[in-house]
Amino acid sequence: MAKSGGGNRQKSKEYRLARKFDVVILGAGAAGMMCAIRAGARGRSVLVLDHAKGPGEKIRISGGGRCNFTNIHASPKNYLSSNPHFVKSALARYSAQDFIDLVNRHGIAFQEKTLGQLFCDDSAKDIIRMLLSEMQAAGAKLELQSGVASVEKSADGFRVVTSGGETIEARSVVVATGGKSIPKMGATGLAYDIARQFGLKLIETRPGLVPLTLDPNLLEKLAPLSGIAVPAEIRHGKTAFREALLFTHRGLSGPAILQISSYWREGDEISIVSEPDRRIADDLKAARKANGKQLVQTALAEILPKRLAQFFAEKHPAATKLADCSDKIFDAVAASIQDWRIRPAGSEGYRTAEVTLGGIDTSELESKTMQAKSVPGLYFIGECVDVTGWLGGYNFQWAWSSGHVCGEAL
Ligand code: FDA
Repeated sequence: MAKSGGGNRQKSKEYRLARKFDVVILGAGAAGMMCAIRAGARGRSVLVLDHAKGPGEKIRISGGGRCNFTNIHASPKNYLSSNPHFVKSALARYSAQDFIDLVNRHGIAFQEKTLGQLFCDDSAKDIIRMLLSEMQAAGAKLELQSGVASVEKSADGFRVVTSGGETIEARSVVVATGGKSIPKMGATGLAYDIARQFGLKLIETRPGLVPLTLDPNLLEKLAPLSGIAVPAEIRHGKTAFREALLFTHRGLSGPAILQISSYWREGDEISIVSEPDRRIADDLKAARKANGKQLVQTALAEILPKRLAQFFAEKHPAATKLADCSDKIFDAVAASIQDWRIRPAGSEGYRTAEVTLGGIDTSELESKTMQAKSVPGLYFIGECVDVTGWLGGYNFQWAWSSGHVCGEAL
């Protein structure tokens, strides 16, 4: 009896003792897992906490389930940040090639789809499995369905209290809880709250890589175009992206629009150049020579999807038979197709945004380690930092690079 009572006392004493780790990483997304791998491999005791049911949920759904895990052309010019130089060190120290080598070591088949974008042949889950097996090999511990109630500084590090009420002590805390995009998938503003709590500056956040919406009048006019995709160049100021444009029942989407959305601000105009590799005015002149009896709309339908051709032709009542049109009319028709100015009403917001622009001000962090300059032992990595990549694998590359250099420093 006495023995068993002593055992219980022992147990309750053990229960009260906080678990201790060298590093607690908040968030088992791309950045958090990469950081855990590196820190674990360097002999640190690592605990990764995530409130979701599974790790890497965004990896799982990314790239249409095939994860565009990096871009072979990734370089600082593919990133938006208040300090464009900040990404240089991490990208140089852990490059797209480093991640490709890791993927190759795990025998995961992949291919380049377009513009240097690498996708898994089979499934994004291959990337998650790879990261989990690397974490296991590195001895990093993962605890899911475990949220974070608080993070406080302690005498020799930090005290993290989980949503289950457990207190965990750590020498270092890495915040890798991502941005605000897709709250349905568990995105929270935790990283920003922790940054604020420790007095770090934030750059205002906004949705990025997101479809743009149109005012009801324009939307009604464009309704017949819903579902049409065309090659386009979308311009905003000096920035331009040449990829597909998609008309939707809410407004404009497709890779070209998602790319420009990260640069666009409320009230700004964008210019749409459909079929940017062609000179439509010249095409119409050539068609007039070949067959003057043809209607402008019919000639346009040889260049553009039929409904789009009709839409643009109807904007120019004077453009009927090709033979009856002056060069000036062709220029006007071509301009409406190849310099179409639109002022989007807004964006679809965090509900569908792939990323969050803004976040922890990079001036608060050391670019070689991701450590907060004013709070030794506190690190921020991945999407929560004011670094946002273009569409095309650049955002995962930032997660891998920032996670890796942080893990190296722990
Ligand atoms: P990420 O969001 O991946 O991870 C954060 C983790 O923290 C999550 O596991 C979350 O559950 C956890 N968390 C959040 N709050 C918490 C809290 N309070 N307590 C505990 N845990 C918490 N990029 C790319 O390069 N190629 C692509 O193909 C795509 N495709 C794509 C598709 C879609 C639909 C989206 C939404 C996004 C993409 N992206 C992408 C962007 C990419 O997913 C994104 O940049 C990275 O996932 C960011 O990695 P992080 O690890 O920083 O955050």
